[in-house]
Amino acid sequence: MSRPIGQPTDPYRAIDAQADPTEFVERLEERGETPSHVRLRRRFLRFARVGRGAAVLEVGSGSGVVARDLARMVGARGRVVAVDPSRTCVMAARRLARAHGLDGRIAFRVADGRRLPFRGGRFDITLAVTVLLHVDEPAAVIGEMVRVTRRGGIVGVQDQDFGTLALEHPDRRVTAEILDGVVERLYPEPLSGRRLPGLLRAAGLDRVRLLTDVYQDTALAPYTQRFLEHRAENAVKFGIVDAATAQHWLDGITDIARGGRFVMTLTFFGATGVRP
Ligand SMILES: C[S@@+](CC[C@H](N)C(=O)[O-])C[C@H]1O[C@@H](n2cnc3c(N)ncnc32)[C@H](O)[C@@H]1O
Repeated sequence: MSRPIGQPTDPYRAIDAQADPTEFVERLEERGETPSHVRLRRRFLRFARVGRGAAVLEVGSGSGVVARDLARMVGARGRVVAVDPSRTCVMAARRLARAHGLDGRIAFRVADGRRLPFRGGRFDITLAVTVLLHVDEPAAVIGEMVRVTRRGGIVGVQDQDFGTLALEHPDRRVTAEILDGVVERLYPEPLSGRRLPGLLRAAGLDRVRLLTDVYQDTALAPYTQRFLEHRAENAVKFGIVDAATAQHWLDGITDIARGGRFVMTLTFFGATGVRP
């Protein structure tokens, strides 16, 4: 795959600057409730050794899907702090945590991962889930995560890797044009997942481990459908295909799903390391 073309246009870099920031809260909640995503997210949190009583920081918490899991995992004796640069996300995350019966169990704050407003060594575990993909300087965010984690504590990162997206479709050429073309223009590093262990080692962490897991959908779940519709929309916006071709491609997906042949998989890479 070639390098990103021009400036990345990823809306997750500046959610509050988008026409409708709440749309991103809805997308994150929809993904968060999708069974395959629930499974792989919780598996990664167990891999990162999140347990009762831990003090955990989540960087880039979005609508709070991961932070709510963390609050349940650490229990009442633990502590969860979650930061995100989007004020819309932070406000929505507070409201959603209350609605899930977790009032007062998570401290949500507006902050950027490149400048965390915490003293060094404050957390047992520091995590960023599907965040590094969206930032220009992942090493700067990891550097800050390492700084605020205590010696012997864990830094963990998880990202999807768009070089691993497999979609069953009769038109493989247009599928590749749309899927590869869009991510090259959208993200600073579409293949972020596979780079995570190297980034953790470069940040000086010990005992770096990798867990790969797969988002798998054989029924065209609402989240997957919207994900593919956004890819088609962006492909038109970026001039990769015209509107008729994009619609024809989406119709092909509907046909495949109606025929019981729908398959989409996407590998998530989770890496953890120990602060020396
Ligand atoms: C795809 S969402 C992931 C949200 C959440 N971790 C989850 O898995 O549901 C990416 C989040 O990263 C946040 N983000 C973008 N740039 C960031 C930065 N420089 N530091 C911290 N978070 C950032 C966005 O505001 C957004 O909420």
